[in-house]
Amino acid sequence: MITVTSVLPRPVAATEPIARPRHYVMCRPEHFEVRYAINPWMRPGEPVDRERALAQWDALRRTYLDLGHRVDLIDPVPGLPDMVYAANGATVVGGMVLGARFRHAERAAEAAAHRAWFTAAGFPVVEPEFVNEGEGDLLAVGDVVLAGHGFRTDPLAHAEAAAVLGREVVPLTLVDPRFYHLDTAVAVLDDSTIAWLPAAFAPESQDVLRARFPDAVVADPADAAVLGLNAVSDGRHVVLPAQAVGLAAALAERGYTPVPVDLSELLKGGGGPKCCTLEVRS
Ligand code: ARG
Repeated sequence: MITVTSVLPRPVAATEPIARPRHYVMCRPEHFEVRYAINPWMRPGEPVDRERALAQWDALRRTYLDLGHRVDLIDPVPGLPDMVYAANGATVVGGMVLGARFRHAERAAEAAAHRAWFTAAGFPVVEPEFVNEGEGDLLAVGDVVLAGHGFRTDPLAHAEAAAVLGREVVPLTLVDPRFYHLDTAVAVLDDSTIAWLPAAFAPESQDVLRARFPDAVVADPADAAVLGLNAVSDGRHVVLPAQAVGLAAALAERGYTPVPVDLSELLKGGGGPKCCTLEVRS
């Protein structure tokens, strides 16, 4: 038998991506189910295997721990099946916590649970006036916060986020209901690089992203369609849905290390790795 080892050197990026240890908050999918539909991925009639969801989620948590990151847990609340998507619970930048306010009544009670968690952990917490779905729509990249609207977050929340978080906020209009949260259409790879799906944005928002991120990785629609952009990067390792093979290859070509995870059960709720992962930025 012949073992083929590649003799081609891996293309080296201009600067090797550097990992930074991260601090995440996650919520076990103990009460996960799909019993209402608030995005096009959710089909309440179709079965969900909660044991499998738990195992997939455990593997995601283990992946972060193995990469050397810190993972804190927020207690799941009975009756809040979407609470596993912890990224929506708050936005934390510079140690400041902007709480969430959900668009749909089904998720409204998650916001208070997150605020209570961060208050107990000693963080300053602001309860917002306008609808914002946390890191679903507010993504910190370097010194700025990219802010989606169009489906969930109220555009008026953008100025509120800028004031609370003390960062420039860049408003972006989402136009495709499959990519209803910004974190389904943009993956933050490091402090100055994103991967994204142009077609998920209004033309003027595409122009804004092209101007700000000329070196961005442009995702194939096929990878975005399995929520491949719902990825979590520590600057080097990019944890992404295993089904997004094209995106994984594109990231590897740029010097990143793709770390595929299978979250197929949680995809039934319309979420992937990033949705399950709230980053605490001190
Ligand atoms: N079922 C949830 C919802 O529609 C999924 C949230 C996914 N979270 C995310 N950060 N994109 O609200």
